[in-house]
Amino acid sequence: MTRIRVATPDAIADAATLLRAGELVAFPTETVYGLGGDATNDAAVAAIFAAKGRPQFNPLIVHVPDLEAAEALVEVTDNAHKLAAAFWPGPLTLVLPRRKDARLSLLVSAGLESVAIRSPDHPVARKLLAAAGRPIAAPSANRSTEVSPTTADHVARSFAGATNGPAFILDGGPCDIGIESTVLDLSGERPTLLRPGGITPDEIAAVIGPIARADKTADLGGAARPSPGMMARHYAPKRPVRLDATTVAPEEALLAFGPAPLAGAAKTLNLSAEGDLAEAAANLFAMLRSLDEPRFSAIAVMPVPETGLGLAINDRLARAATPA
Ligand code: TXA
Ligand code: MG
Repeated sequence: MTRIRVATPDAIADAATLLRAGELVAFPTETVYGLGGDATNDAAVAAIFAAKGRPQFNPLIVHVPDLEAAEALVEVTDNAHKLAAAFWPGPLTLVLPRRKDARLSLLVSAGLESVAIRSPDHPVARKLLAAAGRPIAAPSANRSTEVSPTTADHVARSFAGATNGPAFILDGGPCDIGIESTVLDLSGERPTLLRPGGITPDEIAAVIGPIARADKTADLGGAARPSPGMMARHYAPKRPVRLDATTVAPEEALLAFGPAPLAGAAKTLNLSAEGDLAEAAANLFAMLRSLDEPRFSAIAVMPVPETGLGLAINDRLARAATPA
């Protein structure tokens, strides 16, 4: 059973040290417990997906101490400024355009050009963010098919028997709100509610005016975009992606997997020479991007086993291979 530690200053300091070393720690927020990992570290983010047992890479929420920290990662629009002034810290997540120079894992936003970001209002989460000194990616701290945990004990039960769960669970008592944050997309033309949560649409509308709802896309003549959680607007390279490659042409780039990469490609990057799926997940989006050069006719991809994180990797590769 994953260890639960009361969130004393010592325990928070230990959690911050582990996060900085790329490990996962579960911690309380005012909404639900989060499964935290260093949002700047691809391997830590891949470990979150592995621990959740997610069938695909849904983009994760990046937690920051305040608006200033958000400004280093995303383009903070006028509406975002107003909403942050009104509701941060608190249960409102804003989806904003990712800054080109953001020091953030590409995997954390599943390769999208936007990032979901929020400043949590829980003393333990805030102390942990301050001690870690970097943004923390955290989905709810439960395995994929289970409901979100609102006590440390829920988290412990969810990961009981798992070998890849959090290093330990910071116990800050039961969560006040108990449902996840509201997710509002401010990256498109029209503010769009992607997930109802702790802050109501009326409260948001009182600050920035009417908002669209992703679940009523049909009413909006397609103006609203669906959430990646529901139906993705996914990252896809400009070059064609050729899956399950068993040969490679000299004008192609190769995304290899395993100890025996195909020979003869114009350029080869290996997702994991050791055949490690967590390493492959951590490398996936960055490598697809760096192979997406005009000089290549296509990106050939070697087969990745359809087990564990391989399911999520293959899901993303299949989407990347689907023409726009
Ligand atoms: O209350 C919460 O928000 C909790 C606590 C731990 O902070 N976190 C949480 O994270 O619920 P998660 O990963 O379970 O939910 C993330 C939601 C998903 O619905 C996802 O699709 C959406 O945010 N999301 C994340 N990044 C996005 C993006 N770039 N564009 C659109 N939606 C995004
Ligand atoms: Mg969740």
